[in-house]
Amino acid sequence: MIETIPLAPDLKICRIINGMWQVAGGHGYIEPAKAVSEMTLYHDSGLYTWDMADIYGPAEEFYGRFHKNVPDSVGLTKFVPNPGVMSRNFVERSIRNSILRMNVDSLDLVQFHWWDYEDSGYLDALHHLAKLKDEGKIRHIGLTNFDTARMQTMIDAGYTITSNQVQYSVIDQRTQVEMEKFCKKHNIKLLTYGTLGGGLLSEKFLDAPEPTRIDLNTYSLQKYSNMVDAWGGWELFQKLLKALHQIAITHDTTIASVATRFILDKPQVAATIIGARLGISQHIQQNLHTFSLKLTSDDNKIIQEITSQANDLYQTIGDCGSEYR
Ligand SMILES: NC(=O)c1ccc[n+]([C@@H]2O[C@H](COP(=O)([O-])OP(=O)(O)OC[C@H]3O[C@@H](n4cnc5c(N)ncnc54)[C@H](OP(=O)(O)O)[C@@H]3O)[C@@H](O)[C@H]2O)c1
Repeated sequence: MIETIPLAPDLKICRIINGMWQVAGGHGYIEPAKAVSEMTLYHDSGLYTWDMADIYGPAEEFYGRFHKNVPDSVGLTKFVPNPGVMSRNFVERSIRNSILRMNVDSLDLVQFHWWDYEDSGYLDALHHLAKLKDEGKIRHIGLTNFDTARMQTMIDAGYTITSNQVQYSVIDQRTQVEMEKFCKKHNIKLLTYGTLGGGLLSEKFLDAPEPTRIDLNTYSLQKYSNMVDAWGGWELFQKLLKALHQIAITHDTTIASVATRFILDKPQVAATIIGARLGISQHIQQNLHTFSLKLTSDDNKIIQEITSQANDLYQTIGDCGSEYR
């Protein structure tokens, strides 16, 4: 059974989304033709939703080539402008370029990222995105890595926000401090990344010594290894992996499935994005298994027992997205 969810009344997505940051460099050599043809494998297995960004190298173009032959796929992209003046022309041109690259008539979801809160230009950008939505170029406006305070500013200004894409995993549960409650109140869904820690949350790293820079051979592994350090270090992480492994064994599944299900079960989480190194590695069947997994309250207690020993990332880093600023 494939789990789907309406992200909006007219936008049904798969609850496991294929993430395309991994084609943007730093994750091994991606061969374009092979990558595009492998996208069909995901789609035909039921994983029909893709996450990309205007800054993810060839991701939108790969999606456009794929989508031409598979028009019932769903592609969610991001608008990640460099700091600067957010004129109507600039925002419109950026959105038009994504539309052209993705080979669609309009963008199903534009997830907007902003690097610097000191610069209130994000409200100008949002104003133009809302106008483009009124004109039918965008169907829904989402955010990525915005904190609760800025989301409040946007809601107060009258904007409708469909989703916020944030880091959310067994080790990073900062959403639960403020974001979750706020999103529930305003009917905003969460799309999560980092849920597998770039692959750290898997049997591959169970009982393994702390990885060196050479072992951390993707940008994603490097990113989340830093998060493990901030969270509590390798020793505690091993305790967590052992606990997840025990839970996985009782359900005849894998650590990755337990880690994904744990987040899919959280309030406001619409879907989890799992990075796909297209043409290099794929875990389609294992990830589909997550849909039939049901965690018990005992399983959740075992996880909570370990995570309660970790550092408070909200205190040390701040609300969701603060690691980018
Ligand atoms: N908005 C943002 O700022 C932001 C930031 C980061 C990511 N993202 C989005 O989220 C997506 C996810 O990326 P991520 O960096 O967070 O990585 P991730 O999803 O935590 O990890 C992906 C890696 O996990 C491994 N994996 C996947 N399924 C597995 C399974 N069943 N068993 C064992 N290992 C498994 C694979 O490693 P191997 O390939 O080595 O096998 C894969 O490359 C990105 O592509 C992007 O779309 C967004």
